[in-house]
Amino acid sequence: MCGIVGYTGPRQAYPIILKGLKRLEYRGYDSTGIALLNSGLKIFKKKGKVTDLESTLLGQELHGNIGIGHTRWATHGEPNDVNAHPHRSASGKLAMIHNGIIENFLQLKKDLEKNGYSFKSETDTEVLLNFIEEIRIKNKCNLEEAVRVALNRVVGAYVILLIDEDDPETIIAARKGSPLVIGIGKNEHFLGSDASPMLEYTREVVYVNDYELVIVKPNELILKNLENETITPFVQKLDIELAAIEKNGYDYFMLKEIHEQPKTIYDCLRGRLDAENGTITMAGVELNIEQLKNAPRLIIVACGTSWHAGLIAEYIFEELCRIPVEVEYASEFRYRNPVINRGDVIIAISQSGETADTLVAIEKAKEKGAFIFGVVNVVGSSIARASHAGAYTHAGPEIGVASTKAFTAQLAVLTMVALKIAKEKNTISDERFHQLLQELNEIPAKVSKILEYTEKIEALAKNLKNAQNFLYLGRGYNFPVALEGALKLKEISYIHAEGYPAAEMKHGPIALVDNSLPVVFVATKDENIEKVMSNMHEIKARKGKVISIITENDNLTASICDEFLSVPPSDEIVAPMLSVVPLQLLAYYIGIEKGCDVDKPRNLAKSVTVE
Ligand code: M6R
Repeated sequence: MCGIVGYTGPRQAYPIILKGLKRLEYRGYDSTGIALLNSGLKIFKKKGKVTDLESTLLGQELHGNIGIGHTRWATHGEPNDVNAHPHRSASGKLAMIHNGIIENFLQLKKDLEKNGYSFKSETDTEVLLNFIEEIRIKNKCNLEEAVRVALNRVVGAYVILLIDEDDPETIIAARKGSPLVIGIGKNEHFLGSDASPMLEYTREVVYVNDYELVIVKPNELILKNLENETITPFVQKLDIELAAIEKNGYDYFMLKEIHEQPKTIYDCLRGRLDAENGTITMAGVELNIEQLKNAPRLIIVACGTSWHAGLIAEYIFEELCRIPVEVEYASEFRYRNPVINRGDVIIAISQSGETADTLVAIEKAKEKGAFIFGVVNVVGSSIARASHAGAYTHAGPEIGVASTKAFTAQLAVLTMVALKIAKEKNTISDERFHQLLQELNEIPAKVSKILEYTEKIEALAKNLKNAQNFLYLGRGYNFPVALEGALKLKEISYIHAEGYPAAEMKHGPIALVDNSLPVVFVATKDENIEKVMSNMHEIKARKGKVISIITENDNLTASICDEFLSVPPSDEIVAPMLSVVPLQLLAYYIGIEKGCDVDKPRNLAKSVTVE
């Protein structure tokens, strides 16, 4: 949460930082701010999105070859101009931006107040900044040393970037628990929460680790740990294309990402799945096959959409591999004292690879001796690095806050992992194995077919946009898809929606049903379909409106529904990768109809790096 950008070098910093902040806005967009050094420290900040700040600065002289910028997801203090970052220290000389939470800030604040400090904002950031400044003054040390001393005394998570009026070439940065990337250019350096702000300028990057301190000048990069020992930076080459982080003609990233799914699922299968020869190649599984196939239990930890993928994976692993599976919200798992037995394998699922709860959950499980298998999208991210083994989803950058293509790629990867383990364990027949490889192979083309018929979904969205509540129902593999459909609608259109197992509806939610309630059934054809049809009748009998995702040519199910959207036939194990697509589009078009900013829904951020 919160996006940070920094630049030091021969170019004008403002346009680089502004563009970088636009790319990082998925991380938070409550307020925006930029600090520039140019014969003095200047800070510009404003509540709202990056474009709000940009328009207030139009026509101003914004010079400076060094600067830092921030896009905020508010934690301490409401989103307003004062709480926006960067903050200025009491002396006026230092400016700092921060991503994370300083948990002991109240105590630090009290101590500083006793020493005569007063604060303009309600943020923990301003407290940390003045704490650093106080140490610098008291200890008569340089800024780097003051930052090190301060960070050894704070509790919490942070990425900070600091500039000093008296040292107009240097940015000091540090990380614990939130991502930080350094881009190395020719006589210049870039800093960012991810690599997107630096893509035009360099392909050489360093991913900073926790408890590392960075000192960058145009011609110098120094990396140290908090014990003041120098570390050799590990320089990596970026392989993301600029086009991957641009909208390419689509109105919103979310729509682009929904439409990319035939390609992203294909990219995920490519080089791994060979349906013709009946093989799956996955190094992360092969090298650890004994561990995986002998696991007495799999525990899946994730949050949000990734957790929904985990629920579907539970059904797949239990059915194909005959291994008991538990699916845990990472945020709950980390705060209890879970029983982890010898040999248990944790599967951590995360698009960003930075979700704080998932990261801490796996660290805790590691301490208890578990083996961690990561299913992650962002290469080199914290969860990927903290895992013992894993498989990347290769969906490319996902920028829309609502997760779409990452979900279907997660399902593709998890299905392949399950199939591979099942084959090794002999819990699947050859015939079923080959059939499922073929089914997986056909998914990209079937998703393309669904995407050809978006007009019907757009029209449906127009009819449904005024509903106050929605119920999403499904059985078996379709139940987690119902949860995912409800989550998509909630987050981007602000309409209340609940997902439920279709049969569970009778134990409470049916009380909500009346002629104003749209009930969305995920009702693709499987062994449960007749039972689901009975549930539809139960809704209709109470005058609810039945809208269903059904299998093409299933006229019987269609005949019960007020509205239906169809998807090509497939095996139930792979069907969620199809049935979720119309639900993504329905949520998207309802959001658009309601005038919502679907890429940046209120209160949300793409990467949840606070607890
Ligand atoms: O990056 P992660 O997959 O770990 O993120 C988990 C959730 O924060 C994420 O899926 C969130 O629920 C999305 N906004 C859902 O669309």
